[in-house]
Amino acid sequence: MEPVNAAIIYYSSTGTVHALAQAVAEGAEKAGAQVRLRKVPELAPPEAIDANPAWGQHLRDTAEVPEAVLDDLAWADAVLLGTPTRFGNPASQLRAFIDTTGSLWQQGLLTDKVYSVFTASSTAHGGQESTILALGNTFYHWGGIIVPPGYTDPIQYQSGNPYGTSHVSGDGPPDEVALEAARHQARRAVDTAAALKAGRAA
Ligand SMILES: Cc1cc2nc3c(=O)[nH]c(=O)nc-3n(C[C@H](O)[C@H](O)[C@H](O)COP(=O)(O)O)c2cc1C
Repeated sequence: MEPVNAAIIYYSSTGTVHALAQAVAEGAEKAGAQVRLRKVPELAPPEAIDANPAWGQHLRDTAEVPEAVLDDLAWADAVLLGTPTRFGNPASQLRAFIDTTGSLWQQGLLTDKVYSVFTASSTAHGGQESTILALGNTFYHWGGIIVPPGYTDPIQYQSGNPYGTSHVSGDGPPDEVALEAARHQARRAVDTAAALKAGRAA
């Protein structure tokens, strides 16, 4: 059977979600997937970026990461989306990319894929779950198969978010617990996509 194609598409201003995305990519590769790690375009005006030196620095540090295009979604069997929380919602940069998918949706090219979300917020109760759930609304419209990590691995009892890997960026960069949760989430998404792919091929 062809390997699972996993698209990891994320937005990150200051690197937290990017670090999680890299761990997700690692987990997906280890699970046997072909991986595309893609950032969505930055849309914020320079004055907003310049107001936070860490933001500009991260933008420069990730200049080489390819930008997501619609084909990444069409190609994928499993799509893992990453976004920081913005007042309890996904970042507008990720939403703007999602808002370009009308033609794919119309052609039915977003259906029957596995979808999963990871996120970060600066505070512990800053809206991680609502951010993940908000993206779930889109997956319903796409006819997607939402695969959350749940409590399907011991790491989930340490990381503590069954909706999707989440990190409190106010505590510093993602630690090994968050990174391992991200790898686990990717493995689970890829394993589920592989089972679906094998079942459909049979
Ligand atoms: C406009 C804006 C809104 C934000 N809203 C929240 C929020 O509601 N709750 C929270 O805990 N953090 C909030 N944050 C903080 C970000 O979620 C946090 O900096 C981010 O998760 C870090 O991820 P990154 O390093 O990948 O950019 C907000 C940040 C910005 C710029």
